[in-house]
Amino acid sequence: MADPDGVTKEQVLSALSQIQDPDLHQDIVALGFIPEDSIEIGDGQIAVKIVLTTPACPVRDEMKAQAEELLLALPGIERVDVEMDAAVRTTGAAQGPTAVPGVRNIIAVASNKGGVGKSTVAVNLALALRRFGASVGLLDADVTGPNVPTMLGVPVGSQADTGLQIIERYGIRAVSLGFVLKRGLPVVWRGPMIGSGVRQLLHDLPWSEGGDLDYLVLDLPPGTSDASMSAATEAPIAGTIVVTTPNAVSVEDATKAVTMFEKMNVPVFGLVENMSYFACPHCGERTNIFGTGGAEAMADELGIDFLGSIPLHSDVRAGADSGIPIVESDPESPVAQAFSAIAQRIAAKTSVQHFFAEEAPASA
Ligand SMILES: Nc1ncnc2c1ncn2[C@@H]1O[C@H](COP(=O)(O)OP(=O)(O)OP(=O)(O)O)[C@@H](O)[C@H]1O
Ligand SMILES: [Mg+2]
Repeated sequence: MADPDGVTKEQVLSALSQIQDPDLHQDIVALGFIPEDSIEIGDGQIAVKIVLTTPACPVRDEMKAQAEELLLALPGIERVDVEMDAAVRTTGAAQGPTAVPGVRNIIAVASNKGGVGKSTVAVNLALALRRFGASVGLLDADVTGPNVPTMLGVPVGSQADTGLQIIERYGIRAVSLGFVLKRGLPVVWRGPMIGSGVRQLLHDLPWSEGGDLDYLVLDLPPGTSDASMSAATEAPIAGTIVVTTPNAVSVEDATKAVTMFEKMNVPVFGLVENMSYFACPHCGERTNIFGTGGAEAMADELGIDFLGSIPLHSDVRAGADSGIPIVESDPESPVAQAFSAIAQRIAAKTSVQHFFAEEAPASA
């Protein structure tokens, strides 16, 4: 319907089609980001909604500003109201493993070596995605050495009598076999049991209760263990991120992890370098204890993306030990911001993966 000023919906869409999504390499109108019924024109005003594929979109603010500018340039328009929204789509359910009901995208956190900070990265990335407004779950798939209870401040064994349940903590839903273990008792499981343990954590828990999850983050055990293999066969994984530290940089080890996921048709989103440099808690000065560029060079050599660096900072360790991760306790800190930036990259990659998976059959 035309308005008194003569601006039409077609003109609005045509103006907005000048905005490109940098990851999907198409304009936002062609991508279907503008619901037509969201466009309202009248009295020199335009209201419109842009529905992104993730609330953690790295260019969300730029897109909003660009849309405002383009719409204000239309004849007779004095006010624009651009609402940014997001609807996370489902990845990976097209072929292969059975999807987990109520889970739109699974993101796995793996590593070539133990102790490089997988759990720290998994927990903080989950919280960072949550802070952007996504609904997020965290599954501790490190069934023989669960770290998630401590990191979320949930007493080990607190569900020993009630049975395993998903808990809500800091706005995310989390589960760990550590909730039902007796403190200090090691879990001695053989391969097949580990596999069925991971399967049950994925498929036998009511993840959909409380609404669908946009992202379920899996904290995997180190290396190419049974649990990692099971996770990759038991559920469609949107992508894996591999964590390394500068002193654990080993192309050989990382290659094993990357090759395993690729063989299992699990996309590798890229490499995160943790404990990458020392950020002085007093003055913020950055010291590259292990030199620079090792992990980036390794990502290059492996042919995968480098997703970013997390500094070595005592607040990260303190947050992990106290059960209040740094993204929760100090979200504006540079370390938390580093996690947020990586979370945005991962969210963008998840969206891209979805589009390519969806487009493939159509263009074939
Ligand atoms: N960026 C960081 N700055 C300071 N300490 C860190 C950082 N990342 C992790 N740590 C600390 O390093 C230790 C190992 O981290 P974490 O438990 O996350 O590693 P992991 O790879 O999950 O280990 P595992 O292989 O045993 O599961 C923990 O004490 C954690 O608090
Ligand atoms: Mg761990």
